[in-house]
Amino acid sequence: MTGSRPTSAPDVVARKGSGTPLVMVTAYDAPSARVVDDAGADIILVGDTLAMVVLGYDDTLHVSIEDMAHHVGAVARAKPQALVVGDLPWMSYHVSREETVRNAATLVRAGASAVKLEGGRKRLDAVHAILDAEIPVMGHVGLTPQSIHAFGGWKVQGKTLDAARQIVDDAVALADAGCFAVVLECVPDAVARLVTDSIPVPTIGIGAGRHCDGQVLVYHDLLGLQDWLRPKFVRRYANLHADAVAAVERFAADVRDGSFPSSDETYHAADQVAETLELADSAAATARENASA
Ligand code: KIV
Repeated sequence: MTGSRPTSAPDVVARKGSGTPLVMVTAYDAPSARVVDDAGADIILVGDTLAMVVLGYDDTLHVSIEDMAHHVGAVARAKPQALVVGDLPWMSYHVSREETVRNAATLVRAGASAVKLEGGRKRLDAVHAILDAEIPVMGHVGLTPQSIHAFGGWKVQGKTLDAARQIVDDAVALADAGCFAVVLECVPDAVARLVTDSIPVPTIGIGAGRHCDGQVLVYHDLLGLQDWLRPKFVRRYANLHADAVAAVERFAADVRDGSFPSSDETYHAADQVAETLELADSAAATARENASA
């Protein structure tokens, strides 16, 4: 987004109203960070979806701050131009101010330039504490996956007038507190539009329609790396799971019919060395045959 220096949180704020939507994509390791960065995304979110799309859990509640730091580090070592945002996992900002700040700092020391946390007015203490430590904070309201047990499942939020007002008030409170952007997940588009028009910082939608200042998708969803799961809001731009299965099937077939490895894919010894080794090999084979006769 900025050319020679990595994108910063203030760069993201400056994009509000620019007319060019922000692009955020998740990544969890160096190769996925390079793909997302080479594609020109503005923000890489090392999301706690790590739990589901990389580690195989059924929800996001199973990752720790250590897990998140491990993967933030891998993303940061790709040295992306995009802003790297580290997701604070469940229970890393719910216990005390001190623990909250220490956990946010762990992600910054691992390589994040900002952190994200879920929840609205309930989480203002945590937001203030992290901002006091000079760490930019991205908010996240609507369907916050760390609340699925409280919500009773993965349900679109903000469908009633009262619920919609709560989401708008939460987003306004986060922006007033100093969050540099707010993720809106799985809310009706009218709610997303009202939030977008009500706050001075960018909204980034996922399942929130087009009236947001930016959009985010999970890397594995947009690339078709998990074809068993396809929420309504996902647009798939590749079928990498199917492509990878087909590639490994071809490798297996080549191994089984002896066509892999070819001579070109093999290291060869110099002629004289090879001849001596061949002689030794045939002597060893003869000795084996004699021993088993
Ligand atoms: O963890 C994550 O990947 C997220 C996005 C879905 C916004 O929070």
